[in-house]
Amino acid sequence: MSDENVPAAEKNRTVTLIDNLTGRRFELPILSGSTGPDVIDVRKLFQDTGYFTFDPGYTSTGSCESSITYIDGDEGVLLYRGYPIEDLAQHSDFMEVCYLLLYGDLPNADQKRKFEHDITYHTMLHEQMAKFIEGFRRDSHPMAVMVGMVGGMSAFYHDSTDITNPRHRMVASYRLIAKMATMATWAYKYSLGQPFIYPRNDLRFAENLLHMMFAVPCEPYRVNPVLARAMDRILILHADHEQNASTSTVRLAGSSGANPFACIAAGIASLWGPAHGGANEAVLRMLEEVGDKRRIGEYVRRAKDKDDPFRLMGFGHRVYRNYDPRARIMRESCHAVLNELDMRDDPLLELAMELEKIALEDDYFVSKKLYPNVDFYSGIIFRAMGIPTSMFTVLFAVARTVGWVAQWNEMIEDPTQKIGRPRQLYSGPTRRAYKPLAQRV
Ligand code: SDX
Repeated sequence: MSDENVPAAEKNRTVTLIDNLTGRRFELPILSGSTGPDVIDVRKLFQDTGYFTFDPGYTSTGSCESSITYIDGDEGVLLYRGYPIEDLAQHSDFMEVCYLLLYGDLPNADQKRKFEHDITYHTMLHEQMAKFIEGFRRDSHPMAVMVGMVGGMSAFYHDSTDITNPRHRMVASYRLIAKMATMATWAYKYSLGQPFIYPRNDLRFAENLLHMMFAVPCEPYRVNPVLARAMDRILILHADHEQNASTSTVRLAGSSGANPFACIAAGIASLWGPAHGGANEAVLRMLEEVGDKRRIGEYVRRAKDKDDPFRLMGFGHRVYRNYDPRARIMRESCHAVLNELDMRDDPLLELAMELEKIALEDDYFVSKKLYPNVDFYSGIIFRAMGIPTSMFTVLFAVARTVGWVAQWNEMIEDPTQKIGRPRQLYSGPTRRAYKPLAQRV
């Protein structure tokens, strides 16, 4: 938060560290943001004290100052540039949310029209990328294709890789947001052996995504407006989420000056993990493995067993110690989609609802504040739409790209930005004499 906005009384707030062995005292400044927890500024800690902080997993560490997204984990609040996610999901669309995340406020009518046009006219891929994708096996996991294709964009779009050039950054950001949907659907079509479907400039973003996924050249394809609205809402809910693992990966990659396409490819790779964006795919596989309500107790017991690596996928969150507000909205969309598709008695949804009920009543989950997260329902909606499980995290990546590029731009434009280079607590061998081969037993 810039200094002139900090009240005088708080300007020189500090916390005192006392080393009880040496008696040395250190004053560390406390910084306040516009809302949320204050932070202890440790930027000069090592220089002044010779100590590092130690926080594997960054459970208590702020990596940057940001004004894009704010989460109150205790209250279950999520704000994009100050707007509650519930309001955006109900009243906005994904293109408005993209503009909001990139530029800091909702667009007026002209701004929205121009932004939507500019994104639309970047949805086509360089024709050579069709050949690029054909280098993969047909049975490749689509996330592997996405990591390769997005990283490969830096080989196709040289005119937008100079990160010091604001126009390059903007063009690269638009290309990434727009082309992710096309690459994602082409990865899907490639796995089916079906021809690629080109984007249509007369369709809105979510409609285009469904069109490119499900249309075939042999007949007209009409996008179901209820599914398009549900997809648009899912994209909004997944657009950004503070400094999560994949966003932190993008920032760290970007801090070295790597080009934007390489940074987003790194973010996709991080999102793929089942503890992060890969959880929506893992939730479906878990529900299919549980198979029957009568087996839920067995899986809940396994999830609570310290000696069993099994976790209840779709539950828990590093930040939310309350219901993930996105999961609540996703639940509503889930029912809307299943009603529209006349799948109200979908066995997996029934299983999911029963699992949620049991988990929310179980003391282990209640005491550890493990609530359903955004991934718990998204897989059920995607499955109802006819989207294969392997594509769930790909769609999460399509949505999250705007968050990644917004955070990447914010970092590049930060005048205090420097390369990220954490230190460590070393517990390996101290200096020792070299042992020639003949002396090694
Ligand atoms: C996303 O960061 C983000 O913002 C991510 C995300 C985004 O939008 O970018 O919100 C998207 O990644 C959502 C999370 C999706 N992942 C899952 O659903 C996988 C299942 N969840 C867990 O793996 C876990 O909850 C994490 C990874 C999400 C959070 O793990 P933390 O913060 O490191 O918490 P933890 O592992 O320290 O768990 C705290 C305790 C532990 O028990 P104790 O060691 O204290 O006894 O809760 C337990 C854990 O064993 N626990 C679970 C559990 N999650 C945590 N036990 C059973 N099932 C679970 N799902």
